[in-house]
Amino acid sequence: MKISVVQFSPNFKNKTANIIRMTEFVEKSVSDVLVFPELSLTGYFFLDFDETKSLSESNDGETAEHFKNLSKKFNKVIVYGFPETDDSGKVYNSAITIFPDGSSYVYRKTHLFYKESFAFNPGNTGFNCFYYAPFDINIGVMICYDWRFPESARTLALKGADIIVCPSNLVTDVWHISMPSRALENKVYLAVANRTGEEARDEEKLIFKGQSAIWGYNGELIVKADNFSEIELVAEIFPEKTRKKSFNEYNDIFSDRKPEYYKI
Ligand code: ACM
Repeated sequence: MKISVVQFSPNFKNKTANIIRMTEFVEKSVSDVLVFPELSLTGYFFLDFDETKSLSESNDGETAEHFKNLSKKFNKVIVYGFPETDDSGKVYNSAITIFPDGSSYVYRKTHLFYKESFAFNPGNTGFNCFYYAPFDINIGVMICYDWRFPESARTLALKGADIIVCPSNLVTDVWHISMPSRALENKVYLAVANRTGEEARDEEKLIFKGQSAIWGYNGELIVKADNFSEIELVAEIFPEKTRKKSFNEYNDIFSDRKPEYYKI
């Protein structure tokens, strides 16, 4: 099985342009699973709820319909970030996971970063894994700044993730220190799709750091992009190999846990 992270620079507030770009990546890809960045549908640097509301869609809106059709046509799992609105009108920084059979699942970002709380409600889904039987893969989803909380990855791993995918808009480099450990200590694959480019609002500029990457379940780096390229990175993965959590005859990283001594 092959998984890709797609690194590109979304066009701010231009959903049509971004859908065209993302569609091209899907059509050309050789992978079974494609992961796009956080808010890849719209760009990132929103400053109030009016902005996000005007671009938001429900999890079965017309963009989701478009990618559901693509997912089915090309038999690929597609994960991308978008501003999602629920029935009550709240807006979330969400990622949707779409399977070729037409099913889809949303994760709403738990830990909001920097000025995101001006324009998004905190997520209320918690961390979940989405299993797709035809590919025998269990995908756990977190978004960007969730990485700073090791509980995010641990929760997804304890819920059975084979791979954690992390659509991102990261503006630092330090996450490259942590991600391999999250993969190793949980024995899961970890795939970060980070965006490139810049966005300026009110004389403040955010520079997104690229360096999208995929790590193996022993923490080894499989592929990594540079800071600038618009590129699809592909890795071959073996999801079933992550499921036995022992690493010698006597130790198993999950059954050796002592939660009664942990404070979380
Ligand atoms: C981030 O959470 N977008 C850094």
